[in-house]
Amino acid sequence: MTADSLQIGRQGAPQAALMAALRDRAAEVETCLDSLLPLEAGLEARLIEAMRYAALGGGKRLRGFLVMEVAGLFKVAPACAARVAASVEMLHAYSLIHDDLPAMDDDDLRRGKPSTHRAFDEATAILAGDALQARAFEVLAEEDTHSDPAARCELVCALGLAAGARGMAGGQMIDMQAEGRALTLGEVSRLHALKTGRLIQYAAEAGAILGRAPWQVRTQIAAYGRDIGAAFQIADDVLDTVGTAEQIGKTAGKDQAAGKATVVSILGIARAEAQARMLCEQSKAHLDHFGPEADRLRALASWVVSRQS
Ligand code: IPE
Ligand code: IPE
Ligand code: MG
Ligand code: MG
Ligand code: MG
Repeated sequence: MTADSLQIGRQGAPQAALMAALRDRAAEVETCLDSLLPLEAGLEARLIEAMRYAALGGGKRLRGFLVMEVAGLFKVAPACAARVAASVEMLHAYSLIHDDLPAMDDDDLRRGKPSTHRAFDEATAILAGDALQARAFEVLAEEDTHSDPAARCELVCALGLAAGARGMAGGQMIDMQAEGRALTLGEVSRLHALKTGRLIQYAAEAGAILGRAPWQVRTQIAAYGRDIGAAFQIADDVLDTVGTAEQIGKTAGKDQAAGKATVVSILGIARAEAQARMLCEQSKAHLDHFGPEADRLRALASWVVSRQS
């Protein structure tokens, strides 16, 4: 699954422009990832190969796109934004490697190819996830990311919060514990907010941190990211139910097979989609402070709920 395979849909010109921008940004993130994860010789070469296997050559690059688009609102140097975009994509790739392990979702397919533990082995996959996570933080802390050490420190802190026990990892824990248990809609919404929403919110906020945006503006951007993240995971749950493996690049129907609590299992598809559309409208309202320069972010909100992959 690559940004190239995203469908334009029937939303017209803003969506077509968005698809082109997604492709361009994905190419920039890919180039940056390639340079930040150089191949090395020696016995650890296999680890680097697995890291590159998981991080390069696929994915919609939504999180990287958010960093770069928001950073663009504040005229951040594209090379700095690309490093932060690559960093969040490394963190995300790590979360996917571990999510696919037999101990978690036990999924053999990711981005249309064998998941990392299938292409290598479980131990290598675990280590590749660990090392991608470490590299993500290292990149943020490096001088080339921002001239102001305070900005670099804020990025490190914000990513730690988004990825840790109160963010992605915490959400994954709830996801595991909820297997075979009935959750309320509120509980599933919180699960979504942690396992997916926090990292997507971080990606948007990171652009504002890079741009040294005033806190009121940063709060608006964070709120936009939070709602986009919630809508994105609902769409993921819907696609797991109605999509094909070819379309989504991962095994379809696995949530129901694993007895996962999802918004679809609670509300059904039509109401889940309505909830995602409501969140999409809500996310756009947080951008009222901005003019046409934020139009692509508005278009992104619509794409998040209409995407087919
Ligand atoms: C998949 O994320 C995992 C979720 C949090 C839903 P994406 O759908 O963004 O995966 P890629 O990066 O495009 O492969
Ligand atoms: C995973 O959610 C979210 C992560 C933190 C990786 P899912 O388990 O629904 O993601 P997919 O469907 O495997 O991509
Ligand atoms: Mg999972
Ligand atoms: Mg999964
Ligand atoms: Mg899923």
